[in-house]
Amino acid sequence: MNTQLRRTVIAGNWKMNKTPSETTAFIKELAPCVADATCDVVCCVPYVCLQNAIEAAKGTNIKIGAQNIHFEPKGAYTGEIAADMLNDLGVEYVIIGHSERRQYFAETDETCNKKVLAALAAGLKVILCVGEHKEQRLQGVTNELVGMQTKIALQNVKAEDLKNVIIAYEPVWAIGTGLTATAEQADETNGAVRAAVADVYGKDVAETVTIQYGGSMNAGNADELLAKYHVDGGLIGGASLKVPDFTSIVKSASK
Ligand code: 13P
Repeated sequence: MNTQLRRTVIAGNWKMNKTPSETTAFIKELAPCVADATCDVVCCVPYVCLQNAIEAAKGTNIKIGAQNIHFEPKGAYTGEIAADMLNDLGVEYVIIGHSERRQYFAETDETCNKKVLAALAAGLKVILCVGEHKEQRLQGVTNELVGMQTKIALQNVKAEDLKNVIIAYEPVWAIGTGLTATAEQADETNGAVRAAVADVYGKDVAETVTIQYGGSMNAGNADELLAKYHVDGGLIGGASLKVPDFTSIVKSASK
């Protein structure tokens, strides 16, 4: 982390977990535990839990995010949700391009780009996910790959809008597997993402962009990962579902 240059952000990605009533109870339990955090604290919850999460988070420092949007503003897209709808509800953040969406729902760098532009136009803050599969790491193309994912997803994003973009480096092989990138791997790859941002927007702008690490981050490894220069927070799956674990990571990021 470099807290002089950029915000540290700890975000939970609940994925398809918790009901609306469980959401209310969880946020109420979490709020006093993270009240003195010096980092930003975000919970990205299922669509149907958003309203409960927003209500429960009122008057606290917890911000609420969604996990996906459609890139069109409205229309005949049965089952989809537009960025404006989330903004109207009081949602602040949206995750875009999570590897599970790329894998199971055929999202591409191009659709991610459309979603990023739609989210920013609607006033949402974006958490853009990039990351390599195990084969790609073994092939030695990780840095080029995350650089390319970043540059395509940010096509036509203006420099002044980058303040509303967080990038999360999530190695696919580390998600939900218990395998974590080493702190060195996370720092190096986050650095490659930052270099890609610098190619397009210049070094000064790139230094201000929050780049998270995600993939089996937990209470035990957060300190080491967050100590690295290019690791400005975490996007946390499993460990964000338990108040003590998530609180512990927030405390690591607040040191
Ligand atoms: P885990 O922390 O469960 O590995 O999930 C990471 C992730 O995918 C966050 O978006």
